Amino acid sequence: MQDLDAPGELTGSLTGTTRRRFIRGVAAAGVSTVASYGLARAAGADLFEASAFATGSTPFSEFTAIAASAGDRLEAPEGFRADVVIAWGDAFADDRGNTFTYGFNNDFLAFFPLKGPNEGLLFVNHEYAGPFYQHGYKPTAEAVAAGKTAEQVEIERASVGNSIVHVKRDHEGVWKVVSPSRYNRRVYGGVVTNAPRAEGSLFAVTGPLAGHPRVGYEIAGSLGNCSGGTTPWGTVLSCEENFDGYGLPLEEGNDSASGWVEAGFPQYDPGTPYREDSANAYAWYGWVCEHDPYDPSSKPRKHTALGRFRHENTAFRHVPGKRFVLYMGDDKANEGVYKFVSDGEFKPGVRGGTNKDLLAAGTLYIARWEPGGRREFATAGDTTPISATSGTGTWVEVLGEELIDTATLLRERFGDEYDAHFATNRPEDVEVEEGTGHVYIAFTNNSSVKDVHGAIRRLVEDGNDPEAVSFAWEDFAEGGPSGRGEEGEQGFSCCDNLVFDAKGDLWVVTDISSSTLNDEGPLQYHANNAVFHIPTSGPNAGIAYRFANMPSEAEGTGPYFTPDGHTLFVNVQHPGEIANSDDSDSVFGQPETYTSYWPDGDRSESRNPSLPKPSTVAITRLPKAEPGLNVIPRPA
Ligand code: FEO
Ligand code: CA
Ligand code: CA
Repeated sequence: MQDLDAPGELTGSLTGTTRRRFIRGVAAAGVSTVASYGLARAAGADLFEASAFATGSTPFSEFTAIAASAGDRLEAPEGFRADVVIAWGDAFADDRGNTFTYGFNNDFLAFFPLKGPNEGLLFVNHEYAGPFYQHGYKPTAEAVAAGKTAEQVEIERASVGNSIVHVKRDHEGVWKVVSPSRYNRRVYGGVVTNAPRAEGSLFAVTGPLAGHPRVGYEIAGSLGNCSGGTTPWGTVLSCEENFDGYGLPLEEGNDSASGWVEAGFPQYDPGTPYREDSANAYAWYGWVCEHDPYDPSSKPRKHTALGRFRHENTAFRHVPGKRFVLYMGDDKANEGVYKFVSDGEFKPGVRGGTNKDLLAAGTLYIARWEPGGRREFATAGDTTPISATSGTGTWVEVLGEELIDTATLLRERFGDEYDAHFATNRPEDVEVEEGTGHVYIAFTNNSSVKDVHGAIRRLVEDGNDPEAVSFAWEDFAEGGPSGRGEEGEQGFSCCDNLVFDAKGDLWVVTDISSSTLNDEGPLQYHANNAVFHIPTSGPNAGIAYRFANMPSEAEGTGPYFTPDGHTLFVNVQHPGEIANSDDSDSVFGQPETYTSYWPDGDRSESRNPSLPKPSTVAITRLPKAEPGLNVIPRPA
């Protein structure tokens, strides 16, 4: 753990134990988050008010860290309330008579303000379907032999993609969906709805591969939407991650093979070298997609200049006088971290104009790490690596012909050098701390180098110049048991999404896979996945404080603060997902056999067996502690 250059002057003091910490500070002069731009009004909306992040401590800066839990509950500290805003299957509508269904497995989310801090739009990704809970499919030998019906595939196709949901905080401080609303919209795995023009049902392709025989000029739908990012011109970037799984034929024991291609949808054949006939196959998915949530008639776009790999998310940085920069990770073991540098210049405060062309042309780089990119361990479960925990690196240019299957073609170019210097321990989220411009990367884990716990790495460009072609790095927060005794300070493992709060402190969600969660072994200490707060400065810098627990087998995703800092939205993804596996005793239609009952029931208390539902949750600070409101479902 190293001290950080403080983003602004931060002072800290401890009151009582370190659990009750109270850190006051002055927020950094924001330059890079959407919330820090006073953008022009558009569509009657107040966008990204500059005052939003201009305060010191946030409503979330002080809380009592909570104990790890294996319960089937979402738990936040006392003094907060947690509510489901919208759950899988909930209906919402636009103002033209179209009704939509909230999708499955919500991952990324971003809040776009409308008319002040208490009303806005949630842009949400629905990463993948849940066949068992949706229609009873499990990859047993019999089910694989029978194949999925066309109706089952349609249910799945309609449950992925993106949702744009208008939300508003009521007089009691509870976030509710506004429906109907002109903004409400769904993008599906095959089509986009609620576009008044016929061509609005398609994504436009931008960049060097527009018109490429495997890509075309327009693409229907979006897939594998994992995490994403925002832009300072008021749009959202949604990242297509596990696009290759949608092309895999059904296979016994493999619950991530969709079987969609064999069900009659050849467009989902990813055509990567995962399949031998790649030269002629489609390359429609695996891109970064841009949407304008404020404009329901806008046509989304797929940006080929950003490369095609398992895109996890994006994080932008802009320094006046410098070109616009986007950082990205390839969420796969032994894959890399990327940086895109635009050709054009970003114009602050402008919602459209030439800013909208910034991601269509530029240079894509992959990070080359010295002495190496991977944290390697002698024994799985160790917390002290045998490899370096700091070093340097260079940005190596990706060639134009490598954009279509970026990681695979880079591997071909570099051979053994790829694993030695480009491979990392599976980059999940990447975030830029706006005050310092430092880049934080969540490396979640990598069994090939016995990394069980993961770590958060900080990358600093040479000269702190976003356009630099060399950098320094160090591992900032290491996963695994911390050895600390205080409740809620035992450490985090398998970091996934990251978000900075207004003070420049880091919030981290974890994603220990359901197959090992709560098993005996090095991850047992962690119990369920959780949300952690990691101060980046002051006396508690680098300590992970457990803020919220997820229900059984769920991962918290997409954490996002409202601009006023009063609400943390979190998506609860895949509660009870073990029931999808072929060796689970779950029986479709019999909720008591499901492996989570959340959010309507609590399996760990055998209470109210219910269909588990991926859901979007809002956590808000209360003026005083009100027992029970901090838990979903509420205590019996
Ligand atoms: Fe979809 Fe990278 O987790
Ligand atoms: Ca993720
Ligand atoms: Ca994940």
